[in-house]
This record gives sequence, structure tokens and C-alpha cells, in this order.
Amino acid sequence: MDHLPSPLASDAKSPLDGAILKKQFPIFANDAAKNPTKPLVYLDSGASTQKPATVIAAIRDFYENYYANIHRGVYRFSQRASDAVEQSRVAVQKLINAPSADNIVFTSGTTEGLNLLAATLPYSPLLKKGDRVVISELEHHANIVPWQMMRDRHRIDLAVAPIDRNPDSDNYGGIDRDALAKLLQKPTRLLAITHSANATGASVPVAEIIAAAHRHGILVAIDGAQAVAHQRVDVQALDCDFYVFSGHKIYGPTGVGVLYGRGEYLAALPPYQTGGDMIEVVSFEKTSFQPPPQRFEAGTPDIAAIIGIKAAIEFLQAVGLARIAAHEHGLVAYALAELAAIPEITIMPAGRKRDGVVSFTLGKIHPHDLGTILDDDNIAIRAGHHCAQPLLRCLGVAATARASFGVYNEFSDIDRLCASLRRAQAMWG
Ligand SMILES: Cc1ncc(COP(=O)(O)O)c(C=O)c1O
Repeated sequence: MDHLPSPLASDAKSPLDGAILKKQFPIFANDAAKNPTKPLVYLDSGASTQKPATVIAAIRDFYENYYANIHRGVYRFSQRASDAVEQSRVAVQKLINAPSADNIVFTSGTTEGLNLLAATLPYSPLLKKGDRVVISELEHHANIVPWQMMRDRHRIDLAVAPIDRNPDSDNYGGIDRDALAKLLQKPTRLLAITHSANATGASVPVAEIIAAAHRHGILVAIDGAQAVAHQRVDVQALDCDFYVFSGHKIYGPTGVGVLYGRGEYLAALPPYQTGGDMIEVVSFEKTSFQPPPQRFEAGTPDIAAIIGIKAAIEFLQAVGLARIAAHEHGLVAYALAELAAIPEITIMPAGRKRDGVVSFTLGKIHPHDLGTILDDDNIAIRAGHHCAQPLLRCLGVAATARASFGVYNEFSDIDRLCASLRRAQAMWG
């Protein structure tokens, strides 16, 4: 693919060149200046991605050149900042192919998007006492705990669709579609499910599941935290009712996230938080509210982060989501092959299709110790329960080590990971 302009040109093994892409992320050069013999290997993009220079520059430009609060001032800077926020909304709309920018609510992240839904749906005509919400065993705590709170407060039932626990099944660790199908009927009214499991990388066939749920009149909310930076997400093609994700996992800043909602469903939800910016008219007797999305955006948001997410989206689009997906699947395939050659490694199952995550244990070495040894080699992985305690319990472990990939990863990063794991093994005898 040598027609592609540098710095996004390809190499022989992959549609992208992680080494070239790394150059767009100042953290790698800054770290290499301090650690020339062991440059940073960053394998924790599932927790948060590093930031390209363009995202950092967009945030800096806002603070240095037109900083002001939005929607309140008639002066130039305030209008420019307000325009920038609305341009970011349009960028998000285009990224996920939402019908309108009005379908895009800015939140502080995936967690807030899910809390917003769980807190407001029971006060809307969309969910009533006696209905059932279904989640799955693959979920991050952010897609479990808000629904438990809702269940306890509103007498709405909560059920959990299991994963396939049969080690001999080719879907081991994936969502159990037959068991889920049994839950997709009355009184289920909402399915809230991940697009991709952060703890194992299990990819959920959400398009088919949404179609099945809709055949039974069930609404579907997708936790896209682990999907949007790794594959092309089209909310209209998926036909989902709600979709949530975080800016910091798509090469954007912390402090911003997105809740996409179908127009009529957002309109049916009451406000989540109240205060400035979300009202039409306030008197001491009564307040009327803005339509969505402003209805859900009370108070001053993280303006810099919202501006930064547009730069992140432009970065994703310049690299190309199809190429990112192919690159990361190549990395995962290589990692699986290389890791499997290490004695006593157990790779957590992820069903039939795995996104850019490999979770594993190594003999009796605690994942936290592994993480510390790898850190000595300047390799950043995540160790622990990955905010998915129930899923790890289903898989019979309390903690794992997790390598998760991004655009800047190279095959040599995986070689470094494996060498460091072998060193850990030698140390722990
Ligand atoms: C699948 C999934 N859902 C939800 C979250 C929560 O995201 P945030 O902490 O950005 O709100 C994460 C974060 O790791 C995640 O991976």
C-alpha cells in the first residue's frame, strides 16, 4: 500500500506501521529520551489510549487562544468555543453515523452514559415496574452496578445472560446466544450489553443480537467503550437504541464521553442532572427543559475535552478504522501464537471472535507481580480484575494480566512482552 501517505504507510506484515504511527504520539519520543535502551511498550490501550500530538494541540489551542465558557457569552471567544463544541458533536455524529447531531449527548464517559440511562429510564414510559433488564456476564462494572441500583430502587428485574463455559466449545468465553435468546422475551424490556469485553476481548455479535431483541420489542443499549477506536461503528446499521463510549479510549482526552440515543427515546427521557444550560424557562414554581441533547448536559462541561475529541476523531479517520481493525487483529493473532509458546501460560477464552485484547495468567505468578516485573522492562500492561469481577469469577480466576493493543503497537512490542514474561518466569523459578 505504498500509495498511502507517510506517516500512515503500511509495512509488509500489517496494514499499518505501528512504528511510524508512534511518532504521532509525543509520549513515546519523550520516554525514549529518558529510556533509550528500553523504550516504552504500551499495551494498556484498553484502559486508556495515548494521545496524538494533534489532540494535545487542539486542547492547548483552546486554552491559549480562545478559552471561554460556552453558550453564555456574546463575545467572540465564547461564541468560538460554543461553535467548537457543536462542531465536535457533528464529528461524533459522523464517526458513528448517527442521523443527527441532536442524537449525540456529551457525558463525562461511558460510566456516566450508562448511569444516565439507568437513572432516567425508570422515570420514562420506556421502562416500568415489573419490566426486566438483561445484561451479560461479559460486562464491565459500569454496565452492571447502575442497573443493580435501578433494580433496587424501582422494582425492575435484572437478569444476566451467561457466557459459554464449555472449554470444548469453539465459543468458550463468548456470549451464550441460546441462553440469551431465552431471555429476549417478556418481561424483558431492555438489553444492555457490551460490544467488546474489556477483560478478555470477547467480541459480541451485536448486530444480530439487536435484530433478535427488536423482534421482541426489546430496546438495546450498547457499551461501546472497547469498540469505537477499534472498528467502524455505525449506529444506524447496527440499529441500536442507545450506544455509549468514552473519549479517552479513542485517542481523545479524559473527561468526555458520548451517549447516542434514538431521537424519540432521548425525547422520552427526563433530565438526569439539572441546573444551568439544560433549561428553557425557570421560575420558582416551575421549570421547563431544553430538548435533547442539551436536556442532558447540565452545567459547564469539560469544554477542552469535547474540543479534543474532534481532533481524536480526525486522527481515527485519517488512519482509517478498517485498517486499524486489520492491524489490531494481526497483532492479536501474533500475540496469541507467541504467548502460547510460553510454558504454563493460560490465555483467557474470548469466544469465536477476539478484539484487541489478550488476557492471561502465567503459572502461579500473581498478575500484579507480573505487571511490576514488566514495568521494570518499561512494558505497560494491566493486571487485576479489570473492573469485571463477575466475568473473571465465571472463568475461575481472581485476576489476570492483560495486554491490549492500539494503533501504535508493533510486532516487536509483543516480542518484548514475551521476553519479559520469560524473564519473570525465570525469576520466579
Ligand atoms: C467495556 C467497558 N465499559 C465501560 C468502561 C468504563 O469506561 P469509563 O471509565 O471511561 O467511563 C470501560 C473502561 O474500561 C470498559 O472497558
